[in-house]
Amino acid sequence: MRLLLRSSVPSSTKGALVDDFKVMLTRKESFTCLAKAVAILVIFSLGAAAGLWAAAGPREYINTITVYFTGRGGGAPVCCRPDPDPDFAEFIAPTRLMHNMTDEQLFWRASMVPAAEYPFDRTPKVAFMFLAGTGVLPLAPLWERFFRGQEGRFSVYVHAPPGVAINVSEDSPLYQRQIPSQETSWGSVTLMDAEKRLLANALLDFSNERFVLLSESCIPVHNFSTVYDYLVDSHHSFVEVYDRNSKQCRGRYSRRMAPSITRQQWRKGSQWFEMDRDVARSLLTDTKYYPLFQRYCRPTCYPDEHYAQTFVHMRHGERNSNRTVTYVDWSRGGPHPAMYGARNVSPELIRSIRMSAEPCLYNGRLTSTCYLFARKFTPDALAPLLEMSSTVMQY
Ligand SMILES: *[C@@H]1O[C@H](CO)[C@@H](O)[C@H](O)[C@H]1NC(C)=O
Ligand SMILES: *[C@@H]1O[C@H](CO)[C@@H](O)[C@H](O)[C@H]1NC(C)=O
Ligand SMILES: *[C@@H]1O[C@H](CO)[C@@H](O)[C@H](O)[C@H]1NC(C)=O
Ligand SMILES: *[C@@H]1O[C@H](CO)[C@@H](O)[C@H](O)[C@H]1NC(C)=O
Repeated sequence: MRLLLRSSVPSSTKGALVDDFKVMLTRKESFTCLAKAVAILVIFSLGAAAGLWAAAGPREYINTITVYFTGRGGGAPVCCRPDPDPDFAEFIAPTRLMHNMTDEQLFWRASMVPAAEYPFDRTPKVAFMFLAGTGVLPLAPLWERFFRGQEGRFSVYVHAPPGVAINVSEDSPLYQRQIPSQETSWGSVTLMDAEKRLLANALLDFSNERFVLLSESCIPVHNFSTVYDYLVDSHHSFVEVYDRNSKQCRGRYSRRMAPSITRQQWRKGSQWFEMDRDVARSLLTDTKYYPLFQRYCRPTCYPDEHYAQTFVHMRHGERNSNRTVTYVDWSRGGPHPAMYGARNVSPELIRSIRMSAEPCLYNGRLTSTCYLFARKFTPDALAPLLEMSSTVMQY
């Protein structure tokens, strides 16, 4: 925002006025919109009065005063931020998520790397990407509580079936955060396409630094600041990667992927990944391995459990933690993990997920904070979860 005052006041007087105003501005760093508006009015009236006062005098003093408002940078666009070009703000952090780009166009645009430093204050954000298979997010009220008061440090993206609008209120951080979507079917490569679509749309916001994939049955087990610091400060991505001599792991490898992908390079892991910006961008630009998965990883091979895992292992292994931050309980056996409904949800359960019995590595040190999120929770678990969120999960 730039305010231009043109008047015929002796420059010494004008300088004093402006200096006083500058002092006011710099002292009160967190100027509110209202205060700014009032300040603008004051300066205008001063200018007008000065103009009247000087009208009778000689005209040789005519010059220009320029007052710059130096707002505080960082985070989401806020009211009265001194951004002279709204198109630039929209370019670096799109607020309108709907577009008509094809995946090819979108992935290409999303994979651009800035060649120079960011010409704006960049607060890293965490992108929460919801893959809402049925277009319903029954645990949204819990997430809304988790996000409350954290504007500027996160962004939300939702991939719901085409034509389905998720039902959240207008003041929800999930409101109008749906991205252009396409049909998906369980176990097919279309699911991986949807994950890449979420990554690509999230990459369009240059402040997004960490990217976490979530389902409608996931919940946060720590508060936002814990989750944010954990992810933003991590030296590694959290893509679970392992190799097992079993039908469900090595048994899904196809020899036709060789020599690009050998049996020794083939990996498996949880679909629910977390990755940093470089890894996310790299995955989107991959044209070597993805076609092999499209062609040769078909049921009973599931691309969402092998593609990102094998790719990250091959290309970014040293930057990966090889573990997931999303807890799930497979201990009961069978093809589906444990489901937690109203009757199974207890403070003890959530506490045991928040503090792991088995420690894990975080930035080279052992910690018991291994999981930030957990699944799978049914819609009727919402009420007990809301009840314990402030005492157990600290949000
Ligand atoms: C996408 O294309 C349709 C049909 O041409 C148009 O009505 C719509 O406004 C476009 N959407 C955006 C976000 O540009
Ligand atoms: C959307 O949510 C509101 C409030 O929870 C509920 O009353 C309404 O029936 C829902 N609408 C649909 C279409 O599900
Ligand atoms: C978040 O949780 C941690 C511990 O889990 C706690 O120390 C911290 O005070 C909480 N932060 C807020 C803002 O509530
Ligand atoms: C994860 O595995 C890779 C090999 O793919 C290894 O280079 C890396 O050090 C492992 N990460 C950690 C944190 O141990």
